[in-house]
Amino acid sequence: MYRVAVIKGDGIGPEVINAAIEVVNSITSKIRFYEFEGGVEVFKRYGVPITEEDLEQIRKMDAVLFGATTTPFDLPGYKSLIITLRQELDLYANLRIIPDLRNGREIVIVRENSEGLYSGQGRAYEDKAVDVRLITRRGAERIARFAARIAKDRNSFITFVHKANVLTSDKYFRKIVFEVAREEGVEVREAIVDSFTIKLVRNPWNHGVILSENLFGDILSDLATIHAGSIGIVPTGNYGENIALFEPIHGSAPDIAGKGIANPIGAILSAAMMLDYLGLDGRRIWDAVRSYVAKGNLTPDMGGTATTMEVTRGIIAEIHSLDPLDLDEMWMEEVRLGRIPLRMDE
Ligand code: NAI
Ligand code: MG
Repeated sequence: MYRVAVIKGDGIGPEVINAAIEVVNSITSKIRFYEFEGGVEVFKRYGVPITEEDLEQIRKMDAVLFGATTTPFDLPGYKSLIITLRQELDLYANLRIIPDLRNGREIVIVRENSEGLYSGQGRAYEDKAVDVRLITRRGAERIARFAARIAKDRNSFITFVHKANVLTSDKYFRKIVFEVAREEGVEVREAIVDSFTIKLVRNPWNHGVILSENLFGDILSDLATIHAGSIGIVPTGNYGENIALFEPIHGSAPDIAGKGIANPIGAILSAAMMLDYLGLDGRRIWDAVRSYVAKGNLTPDMGGTATTMEVTRGIIAEIHSLDPLDLDEMWMEEVRLGRIPLRMDE
């Protein structure tokens, strides 16, 4: 049995996470979800985006499933919940998979998530300000090893994207990436970040596992999402040594919240990445999503007229038809007793 913390957040966060939970519950009895609160409402009560007691509990879980929270521009002292969680749980690797669901292609980006230019060591002086682009041996090694593992799993290679021709920190990073990849037996190609942006626009699908520093990775991974067709379908995983957090990349989308039309696919694929991380079978969800997208009615962001719920049920039906369920007796009993929500509340 795996224990998963759920932070649904606000806006469309709960709408898409409920969809993801429904999909997970329809294929496995091995996960128990525990809900936690976080964000602005918690901050108003306790002065922090998530309480220390909740963080204690969450650290003991196997994984976290996260929706999205609104970060107001004008709330003094408030720090974004997802950034707080990345730091508190030391989620050093960010893996973003940008799928072309209609053609079965993917862009895979591994972003170093804990140091680089976001090291948090910046300082403002009277007449200047400085940020520190920190690359440590430990940080570089662990992210290179992470990228190498993803590349191996996919029978692929790493494209290390850097500015080592100018930046001392990337020269150091580069040396370690090549060292680790040699040890791991993974091929490394490389590209200079500025000209690489053009490749990522024109010819995005053939770069293996793209690996980069925190700020570069942030920019590249946002740029790459244009190839997905909608921001609503892109999943991401944030991995630490002992826990990982999965979330759709989109935010709380206040403009469509409450209308029941949010695209749930990003959250559903995030749950699929979570199942893979836990050693369960996330592929089934990916296959079902691809198959549904090829023929089903989609949400308005993808040119359709479907609701969140219709897409979710369509994907669940697709899972069943591609691969009939083999749920155990105990699980079916729980469902009969109404303890497992197989349907979302309408
Ligand atoms: P956003 O991703 O919430 O929305 C951008 C645009 O994409 C909007 O037009 C929205 O309707 C659309 N969109 C997003 N997700 C969609 C989905 N699943 N289905 C259909 N359409 C979708 O980004 P925005 O507007 O910049 O931020 C809104 C709020 O979310 C802000 O308060 C921001 O701080 C927060 N945010 C939170 C994140 C997190 O918690 N991880 C990440 C990004 C933003
Ligand atoms: Mg970003």
